[in-house]
Amino acid sequence: MEPIPFLSLTPQHDRIRKELEKSFKKVISGQRFVLGEEVAAFEKEFAAYSGVRHCITVANGLDALYISLKVLGIGQGDEVIIPAFTCAPTWMAVSRTGATPVAVEVDEKSFNIDPTKIGRAITSKTKAIIPVNLFGRPAKLFEMLAVAKQKNIFVVEDNAQGHGANVMGKKTGSFGFINATSFYPTKNLGGLGDGGAITTDDSVLAEKARQLRNYGSSIRFHHDVIGINSRLDEVQAAFLRVKLIYLDEWNEQRRKLAVRLQKLLAGVGDLKLPMDENSAYCVYHLFVVCTSRRDQLREFLRQLGIETDIHYPLPPHLQKAYAHLGFKTASFPIAENICKTILSLPLWPGMTEQQVDYVGEGVKKFFR
Ligand SMILES: Cc1ncc(COP(=O)(O)O)c(C=O)c1O
Repeated sequence: MEPIPFLSLTPQHDRIRKELEKSFKKVISGQRFVLGEEVAAFEKEFAAYSGVRHCITVANGLDALYISLKVLGIGQGDEVIIPAFTCAPTWMAVSRTGATPVAVEVDEKSFNIDPTKIGRAITSKTKAIIPVNLFGRPAKLFEMLAVAKQKNIFVVEDNAQGHGANVMGKKTGSFGFINATSFYPTKNLGGLGDGGAITTDDSVLAEKARQLRNYGSSIRFHHDVIGINSRLDEVQAAFLRVKLIYLDEWNEQRRKLAVRLQKLLAGVGDLKLPMDENSAYCVYHLFVVCTSRRDQLREFLRQLGIETDIHYPLPPHLQKAYAHLGFKTASFPIAENICKTILSLPLWPGMTEQQVDYVGEGVKKFFR
C-alpha cells in the first residue's frame, strides 16, 4: 500500500479541475478581483445553503468571528463564553475585541461545550456564547439557544468545521443570532486560499458587518465607522461556488468512510470513537479517536506509512498567548485530557475503501 497522507485534496480537485480552471479564467477576463459578481453570487448561494437570509464573506474565519462579535457591540469589559477545548482562533476573536474569553469545560464524548456547565459561567458581564461545531459534530445548539434566551445573551456559532452539518434538519451556521465560518483549504468547504463568512437572518447586523469588512464603508469613499479590510477575493468566491455544488456529496462520502472506520474499530483496545448523535448529522471534518497510548499508536501508524495529526496538542488556556489569564494545569481537566489522548486519523472525500481498511487494520494491529 502506498503511504497514506493525513489529507489529500487531489481526488476532489481532479473531479472539478476543469470547472475551477474555467472559473479562474472568467475572473481574469472580468478584471474585477475584489467584491465583484462572484462574491455577490457566492454570498447568495451560501446563505441559501445555510438557510439564512444573509451571508457576508470576509478574508478568513478569525475575521468572521471578530466582526460578528463587533457588530453585536461586544468589546472591553464584556465576557464571552467559549469552549475550553477548541482551535485557538475562537478565543483570539474574543480577545481581539477587548472582551474576556470565559472558558467552559467540554463534554468528553462530543468534545463540545457542555451546556449544563454554562450557567455557572454567566455573569452580569456575559454578552455571548460561542459554541463550536468541532470536528464536524454539531454542539448542543438547541440547548445553547435555550440558555441564551433565558439569560438574554447572544449565541454566535463558530461553524468553521461544520459546513453542511445539521440538527434535526436545521443547518449549523444558522442557529446563532450571527454565525461565523472559515473556508481555509482543509475545511469541508475550502477555498484554494484563505476565506471566511458570516451568516445571519438579521438585516441590520448584516449591513454593519458589510461595512466593517470594508473600511466601515457602504458607499464608496464614505466611512461611517472605523472598519478593517477583510474581503474575500473574487477568485476564491468563484472556486467556492464550484465546490459548494459538491459539498453535500463529499460530506456523504466522509460519513460513509467514517461508518466503515467505526465498524472496523469498534471495541478495539481502549479506543474512544467519534459517533453520530441521534438528532445530529455530523460531517466528520476530522475523524478523531482517543487512546491513552496515543503517541505510541501515532508512531506505529507512521511506520506503516499512515500519516496522522493531533487536533489539538494544547488547549487555549495553557497556550503562552493566554498566560496572562493565569490558568494552571488541571483548570479544565477534560479538555487537557483530550489534548493528551486525541489522534486524528486520515479521512477525506475520495479516499478509497482500501485505504480506510488499511488505516483500520493498522490501528487494530497496534492494539493486538
Ligand atoms: C473552529 C475554528 N474556528 C476558527 C477558525 C479560524 O479560521 P481561519 O483559519 O480561516 O482564520 C478555525 C480554522 O482554523 C477553526 O477550526
